[in-house]
Amino acid sequence: MLELSGINKTFNAGTIDEKVLFRDFDLSIDDGEFVAVIGSNGSGKTTMLNIISGSTDVDAGEVVVDGIVMNKMKDYKRAVKVGRVFQDPVRGTSPSMTIWENLSLADNKAKRFGLTFGLNRVRKDFYRSQLEILGMGLEDRLDTAAGALSGGQRQALALIMATLVRPDLLLLDEHTAALDPKAADIVMELTDRIVKDKGITSLMVTHNLRYAVEYGTRTIMMHDGGIVIDAKGEEKASKTIDDYLKVFNTISIETGN
Ligand SMILES: Nc1ncnc2c1ncn2[C@@H]1O[C@H](COP(=O)(O)OP(=O)(O)OP(=O)(O)O)[C@@H](O)[C@H]1O
Ligand SMILES: [Mg+2]
Repeated sequence: MLELSGINKTFNAGTIDEKVLFRDFDLSIDDGEFVAVIGSNGSGKTTMLNIISGSTDVDAGEVVVDGIVMNKMKDYKRAVKVGRVFQDPVRGTSPSMTIWENLSLADNKAKRFGLTFGLNRVRKDFYRSQLEILGMGLEDRLDTAAGALSGGQRQALALIMATLVRPDLLLLDEHTAALDPKAADIVMELTDRIVKDKGITSLMVTHNLRYAVEYGTRTIMMHDGGIVIDAKGEEKASKTIDDYLKVFNTISIETGN
């Protein structure tokens, strides 16, 4: 269970660039939920993920995962609990390292000291089995540098890396946005499969309303640091892309955007 309670966040307080984003923001997510987060540019989606992962400090409030206050936890401990994949495939993998070394690194993130590459036979077979699931032929390219892969292949690898040591939470920030439509669909399918197979509680920010409709167990629409739609179960199942577009349009008329 993930709980954000009483979150306040203002950027550049007291300056002309002051931006009050979150005021008493609350959000509660049950174990196993797969939440699609949609909403206009600047509505606070990325900042919310940054607050959950601890990379952005809050002015007030708490982020609690399974009873543990995350925003006071040491980075290396939080890194085991939270897996992240970003929009840019470059951020999730190390280009000069081989696929094998990248996976080994992800495998070792639970350990605090040193990068002991667990390059043993059994592990290698396990990595191959994980890569086979992608259906991209990467299992035969363990010695290829990650930098030589296409964006879609690299993002698929980043996804495997973020979930290799099963995180309590998976945070995806427009992780298919930089990919061509076919690669985006493949990575989205893969995401769905991993999230379901491993039962990982996940938040996926996307501007692709089709993905928000077709995938996930809950959809949240954000606007100006608040939640304007929160649909799950039958309510989510009944919502169409048009329903979300209507709310987008109403909001932009109200705010003059
Ligand atoms: N480090 C920062 N310093 C100042 N303002 C910031 C900072 N990070 C975010 N903001 C502001 O907070 C608001 C929310 O930004 P955020 O990146 O969370 O939006 P978003 O919903 O992810 O948008 P997008 O869809 O464009 O990615 C914006 O007005 C942004 O300018
Ligand atoms: Mg963003």
